[in-house]
Amino acid sequence: MTYAIALLPGDGIGPEITKAAVGVLEATGLSFQWDEQLAGVTAIDVTGSPLPDATVESIRRHRIALKGPLTTPVGTGFRSVNVALRREFSLYANLRPACTMMPGGRFDGVDLVLVRENLEGLYIGVEHFIRVGGDPRAVAESTAIVTREGCERIIRFAFEYAVAQNRHKVSIIHKANILKMVSGLFLEVGRDVAREFEGQVDWNDLIIDNTAMQMVLRPEQFDVIVTTNMFGDILSDLAAGLVGGLGLAPGANIGADEAIFEAVHGSAPDIAGRGVANPAALILAGAMMLDHLEEHEQAARVRAAVQHTIVEDSIRTRDIGGTATTAEFGDAVARRLS
Ligand code: NAI
Ligand code: MG
Repeated sequence: MTYAIALLPGDGIGPEITKAAVGVLEATGLSFQWDEQLAGVTAIDVTGSPLPDATVESIRRHRIALKGPLTTPVGTGFRSVNVALRREFSLYANLRPACTMMPGGRFDGVDLVLVRENLEGLYIGVEHFIRVGGDPRAVAESTAIVTREGCERIIRFAFEYAVAQNRHKVSIIHKANILKMVSGLFLEVGRDVAREFEGQVDWNDLIIDNTAMQMVLRPEQFDVIVTTNMFGDILSDLAAGLVGGLGLAPGANIGADEAIFEAVHGSAPDIAGRGVANPAALILAGAMMLDHLEEHEQAARVRAAVQHTIVEDSIRTRDIGGTATTAEFGDAVARRLS
């Protein structure tokens, strides 16, 4: 069995960490056929578009992509290719696990999965300025759109994920006390879906601001967290910080037909091209991809190899206190697997 995967190395540190991640995945002994495609700044240089048709077609054909980070210009320039990909393939679920890799220290006792709604809410981009007197930008107005269908899809995803992964609790995170409609609908649907899973998965609901504090004080109380787009964006970075930072945080964007696996971090232009980036996040995203392919045993082996390399072998990149290069870390993980 050969797995055919669309591979988007991306910008900045993307190509360096992608090389390391591919090396690790191949060291599992599984067979892959990588269809390498351009996206982002490198794609503009070659094709004139940040998201060439060939790349979209490749993802549609393979249904699974492993993707490096893509640079999005701030303020002006092309719109986020990451957002475009999520919309193109209706990748409604953003899955971000945060699990302690370095036990015994500051980052202990965390094993949670954040499920973020990826397509709705305040991030749909419906916003404008309103002129008052002579000031054309006196007022800014933004619209959040939340649908019953969208809420149900993401909350059901979270509960089904909890059942499939033997997790015991789902926390529904909202701000329904203030945002009585856009967040109230999410909570209302959440309660309905939770009822269907009674006896299988416990659940609770919590207000977003309290959640932020609770995650810092007692992260071990959380198992699966499900929330709307912007709350999920913020809480997922908080969760990454709980386990040691962006260098260890993987993510998946999942839709009904396609799935794209990537690191949570961006293209890190400040360290790009120097071979010092931590490839662990993308390697762990590769492990999530293996789970998606039902290669659970190999996925667990990859996770264990990353952890053993960091903890037992003390081979670490700079961001987590070591001196190893991207390639040295990737090779060490691969050696643990072969
Ligand atoms: P960033 O995540 O690229 O970098 C933030 C900080 O973390 C930097 O100091 C960087 O050196 C460090 N860092 C990130 N990943 C690292 C790794 N693997 N190993 C060691 N250190 C690492 O965030 P920033 O600087 O805000 O964004 C840079 C670009 O990336 C922007 O154009 C942004 O739009 C894009 N971006 C893309 C994402 C994606 O493709 N999914 C996600 C987030 C940002
Ligand atoms: Mg974010």
